[in-house]
Amino acid sequence: MRLALWPRSLASRTILTLLVGFALVQLLGLLVHTVNQMTLERIEQERELATRAIIIYRHVALSPPAARAALLRHETLPDGASVSLTPGPPDRLDTHPLPLAARQIFRASLLAYQLPMRLRPHGVYLRAFGQPPRIIISFGMPDGRLSGRAGTVFGVMRPLLLPRAKQWLTIISPLNPPAPWRSPGFATAFIVMMALGAVMIFWAVHRLLVPVRTLAEAAERLGRDVANAPALPETGPSEIVTAAIAFNTMAGRIRRFVEDRTFLLTAIGHDLRTPITRLKLRAEYMEDEEQRVKMLADLDEMEAMVAATLAFGRDVTTSEPVTRLDLATLLRTILDEAVDGDPAAADRVSYDGPEHLTVNARALSLKRALTNLVGNGLKYGDAARVTLKLLPKGIAQIDIEDDGPGIATEAMEAVFEPFRRLETSRNRETGGAGLGLSIARNILRAHGGDIVLRNLPGRGLRARANLPV
Ligand SMILES: Nc1ncnc2c1ncn2[C@@H]1O[C@H](COP(=O)(O)OP(=O)(O)O)[C@@H](O)[C@H]1O
Ligand SMILES: [Mg+2]
Repeated sequence: MRLALWPRSLASRTILTLLVGFALVQLLGLLVHTVNQMTLERIEQERELATRAIIIYRHVALSPPAARAALLRHETLPDGASVSLTPGPPDRLDTHPLPLAARQIFRASLLAYQLPMRLRPHGVYLRAFGQPPRIIISFGMPDGRLSGRAGTVFGVMRPLLLPRAKQWLTIISPLNPPAPWRSPGFATAFIVMMALGAVMIFWAVHRLLVPVRTLAEAAERLGRDVANAPALPETGPSEIVTAAIAFNTMAGRIRRFVEDRTFLLTAIGHDLRTPITRLKLRAEYMEDEEQRVKMLADLDEMEAMVAATLAFGRDVTTSEPVTRLDLATLLRTILDEAVDGDPAAADRVSYDGPEHLTVNARALSLKRALTNLVGNGLKYGDAARVTLKLLPKGIAQIDIEDDGPGIATEAMEAVFEPFRRLETSRNRETGGAGLGLSIARNILRAHGGDIVLRNLPGRGLRARANLPV
């Protein structure tokens, strides 16, 4: 089942799981604490009620029976309590005995209040009724008689077995239900503990995932620029060190693989040059004029391809340093140089964009890449209109538009492959080896950017290069 709120990133998932678990543990802990607290609070209430009841009792018992009723009106009572003098304990049917623990508390509190012999109650009646419970405490007034059963009078007696006291003092008082969660302390404790826990969880998860992010970045860098990507530091906890070593070993193998391939390419290119030169010399001696011209043209093409291959190999292996350069000036220079090579193109090139835009890049590589794009525009599209823009995300966007036939959608990616030229553009004059776009994209990607081609509505092609500044 997919949960709609289940976040996608590992960090958010871990944080969410830990936070929920932590909150549950917190709540459980607070619940246990609360139950304890409630028990304590109830014991405290029962003890207090017992003490106040016996104070009232003592006060009443000290005065003569006739004066007692008047005295009651001036007693200070617990909240919600009532006191009365009756001939017997209340005769209610809905009462029930108090739990043993509560009885013991009342008994202990009454005994703790040491009354002189003559004031000891004739009997004590202790029951409860209703919900929330109201406690009934009735004292049989001693009325001058000495009780010889001091040790047992505090027992809870059933009404039938009560000795006959003439007057009973009855106090009925509610026990307030304890509500510890209503206290501000409860919520504060929960919030403070959750906040502390959350900070720790965020910190720990962040710490834990730093290596994952580092690894992802390193893989990304390696993909962009195999030759220059720096190695991962092999430090930190053992798992990270293991992963870093494995990653660096893999990067090393890929690098060697690319180097071998480039070496092979340049070696073949290099060795082909001599036989091509020999063939050219031989072709000069061919009898058939037409065949000779064709063969020399083919050999020229082969020579150009070999030269391009060698240049490609050089590009891959050179590691030019990154410097700060003005991209706007670079673009204008490229256009000027294109016009120098072909003065007729002067009114078919244009530059639109800021006067200056500084970027960090490898100057020669970037120039080669952009020159290839401008060259393609002029060769295949008769124009090179360059627009430079700085996007809000810190990305320089270079558009090169032309008026040519564009490229069929299905060939849009294929033209980036080395030596890939489209049939329709096979034309001696253009003379390229099909490496231009492949080299240009390699260079832009090594800078953290990319090139995308797109046909313009109507006619023409737009090559868009992105480059982080
Ligand atoms: N602006 C363009 N308009 C139309 N086709 C293009 C354009 N740019 C490139 N192409 C096509 O893509 C192919 C590959 O280009 P590229 O890699 O620069 O190699 P080359 O220019 O050496 O042929 C070209 O041969 C051409 O067919
Ligand atoms: Mg080209």
